[in-house]
Amino acid sequence: MDDLRQKYIEAIANAADESALEDLRVQAVGKKGEVALKMRELGKMTPEERQVMGPKLNALKDEINSALAAKKSALADAALDERLRTEWLDVTLPGRGRRQGSIHPISQVTEEVAAIFADMGFSVAEGPQIESDWHNFDALNIPGHHPARAEMDTFYMHRAEGDNRPPHVLRTHTSPVQIRSMEIAGAPLRVICPGRVYRADYDQTHTPMFHQVEGLAIDKDISMANLKWVLEEFVKAFFEVDDVELRFRASHFPFTEPSAEVDIRCSWEGGQLKVGEGDDWLEILGSGMVHPKVLMAGNIDPAAWQGFAFGMGIDRIAMLKYGIPDLRAFFDSDLRWLRHYGFASLDTPTLHGGLSR
Ligand code: DAH
Repeated sequence: MDDLRQKYIEAIANAADESALEDLRVQAVGKKGEVALKMRELGKMTPEERQVMGPKLNALKDEINSALAAKKSALADAALDERLRTEWLDVTLPGRGRRQGSIHPISQVTEEVAAIFADMGFSVAEGPQIESDWHNFDALNIPGHHPARAEMDTFYMHRAEGDNRPPHVLRTHTSPVQIRSMEIAGAPLRVICPGRVYRADYDQTHTPMFHQVEGLAIDKDISMANLKWVLEEFVKAFFEVDDVELRFRASHFPFTEPSAEVDIRCSWEGGQLKVGEGDDWLEILGSGMVHPKVLMAGNIDPAAWQGFAFGMGIDRIAMLKYGIPDLRAFFDSDLRWLRHYGFASLDTPTLHGGLSR
């Protein structure tokens, strides 16, 4: 009996975890455990022997049971201590501020432009950035030999060896979306087409990817007067001024006839741009009456329909409106720049709620 006691008391003290302890309990004091087997032997003993051995066995059983209980609670305490140690949290540390992303000025300005033109009945159309040579050039009355092709610093896509079709291009302007919109919706039509465009050019005022918005209105009796009114309304709403003066300068684009470049009156006093006053002029877009060949390329009969079109640099007007000095910074993804010039995600521009903050 002493051997038995020593064996179990020692094993219980050394048990590593609760399941080892349970195994010991079954072995020692379970129904078929060693103590139970000894109890059975009592039957074969003389009454005198039984009187001595009975209480001793019961005492041994009690002793083992209380050793098991004590070890069990010691193991539970150790487990809790271990959890408290690993799940430790310093609640006295200062809280971390929640980071919030911001809306890029280009996205914001695109939304502003869309809100203004939507109010004048224009919907938003989009086209592919990898464009067919035909949509980007030929359909816009820019044939293969035309100098405008060379001037555009076009990025050409790769063609497989032996494939002699003209390669696709990264669109050099949003004007091909004019053609796609005519193909899809026909006349009458009023759309703006904002998006990314690409040219192989890089310096302080040029990045190889930039943004334009195209405008196209086609109807039975559209004239330059409509173009002028729409652009004036746009500029007043966009720059949030009551009066603007626009200057239409005769120009040339293959896809419009006549063509005009449009400047707005402004002042640069103290390095600060003010729209609508002063003696300076700032070019903001190209425009004109849609060339009959362009209407035909879009399956629209130029004898029945006319239209105006314009193309404007979104990055450019964003720089002007929000006083952003370097174009390249737009696309550097510098978080400090984005925090400074970015917009809160709920600053959705609307005409009724106000365009900018
Ligand atoms: N596509 C021209 C460019 O990228 C801009 C332009 C000029 C668009 C006149 C037009 C337009 O729609 O009528 O330089």
